[in-house]
Amino acid sequence: MNLTRRTLLATGTVAGAAGAIAGLPATAAAKPSGPLRQDPFTLGVASGDPDHDGFVLWTRLAPQPLAEDGLGGMPARTVPVHWELAADERFRHVVRRGVALARPATAHSVHVELNGLLPGREYFYRFRAERYISPVGHTRTAPPPWTMPASLAMSFASCSQFEHGYFTAYRRLAEDEPELVLHLGDYQYEYTRDTYTIPGGNPRDHEGPETVTLANYRQRHAQYKTDPDLQAAHAVAPWAVVWDDHEVDNNWADEVYEKPEIPQPEFLARRAAAFQAYYENMPLRRTSIPRGIDMQLYRRLRWGRLATFHLLDTRQYRDDQACGDGYDACPAAYDPARSITGAEQERWLIDGFNRSDARWDVLGQQVFFAQRDNNAGPLTVTSMDAWDGYAASRDRITRGWVAAGVRNPVVLTGDVHAHWASDLKLDYTDPTSRTVGSELVCSSITSGGDGADSVTGSHPWLAINPHLRFQNNLRGYVRTTITPGQLAADFMVLPHVTTPGAPAHRRATFVTEDRVPGLHLTYDRPLDPAPAARGTGPDQGQRTVEQETVRP
Ligand SMILES: [Fe+2]
Repeated sequence: MNLTRRTLLATGTVAGAAGAIAGLPATAAAKPSGPLRQDPFTLGVASGDPDHDGFVLWTRLAPQPLAEDGLGGMPARTVPVHWELAADERFRHVVRRGVALARPATAHSVHVELNGLLPGREYFYRFRAERYISPVGHTRTAPPPWTMPASLAMSFASCSQFEHGYFTAYRRLAEDEPELVLHLGDYQYEYTRDTYTIPGGNPRDHEGPETVTLANYRQRHAQYKTDPDLQAAHAVAPWAVVWDDHEVDNNWADEVYEKPEIPQPEFLARRAAAFQAYYENMPLRRTSIPRGIDMQLYRRLRWGRLATFHLLDTRQYRDDQACGDGYDACPAAYDPARSITGAEQERWLIDGFNRSDARWDVLGQQVFFAQRDNNAGPLTVTSMDAWDGYAASRDRITRGWVAAGVRNPVVLTGDVHAHWASDLKLDYTDPTSRTVGSELVCSSITSGGDGADSVTGSHPWLAINPHLRFQNNLRGYVRTTITPGQLAADFMVLPHVTTPGAPAHRRATFVTEDRVPGLHLTYDRPLDPAPAARGTGPDQGQRTVEQETVRP
């Protein structure tokens, strides 16, 4: 293997580059006991959930990734997978090696959970199954817990509907070579083809039916993982992932499925299947192995004393949406008995605030946190699927970090298929309420289609909600640089995603200074010339939101 990281990025996948190894016979029958006849490393490699002494390495064997049974064309036998971890990308200095078993029961996925490594170090890894060698991945451990790192380059993303475009934004994210990637949900979508469409038609199609069974979810995950741009993003850095709704079912809430008028008597089995496939296909620790219909996804990551990431699960424990899933002026949204986190996760989070000595406490989570009223009149009309539908829950979390004296709280969000930035308020009913934090919302990787650029500040909801500071309806991701003194967020945009190869542009940068809650716009540059858009048209943030909250 004579591959550089640049080669890795340029080709996306190098699976099969190793080819046949001299001396091995040509393979014969596909019987379960026979050797693998095709390269099984079609889904790339990944790493995740780093701490100061380890991380998880992931791959999954699938010589025929789109197989309808979800088993990737693998024989029904356990396959030993050799793995190597090295300090250099040419594997001259291998620091660990071992064998993991890829079993049919877990769709031949491999999770290698390592500890005892050196803190704050880069590592390279690869796998071998029989005569096939995987692409090389790059990862790192977090810095020592007691140190204050000079900086962290962390990028975050959400909402990658395969059918709505090419994953160029993942490629551009990889080219930045971040040290850590957060994915905030809607990693994949459940729909069958021609169900969730963008104007002008979807440039790509899902394989298979709407995902309901374990086979369906496994096949869908495999289809996504074949994408070379997504593979490049996984291979460049450790990821920490949380799901939102589409990994299971649009707008699901705990044991409640999307639409009461379309009964799903088997919904809990569907949820369990979705969780199982999610675990199998993500670089998660064994603490996240599903148990029946439950899966522990909320957790913390620490990056020295610089940042603590509180990764939330706002789907699995939430009360059902109040007054339906759309926008409403709904009294039940303010009911203190209702929760978006569940009581146990809320206690865990506030306990984490109380114990934190981090410079930055970052909440990595799914849905819009700040109030976002779409009604210019006296009514407050908000999304029942977001924290607005659980206002008392939001109030308890916000007051919890204020009471704990959290030094710099920052909320990261996905879901709405547009970039947004917001100052967070102690009390959204009081226009003079003080700012107590910042929210950064990433646009989608593809969901919604190309979108369009707009003048900063022109979205009508910004005038209704003065704490909302920014909106942009192009696709992209957010690139942050976190230092002891400030957190800078670059809102990266792509002029198009329905055709491949778009460059990424820094559209705007917002900075939060240490101990000064709230956002400062330090860079603002519209695309020039304005791109020809396909998909959602200009200034249609509201339509994007509706596509997200009401199944099209
Ligand atoms: Fe989404």
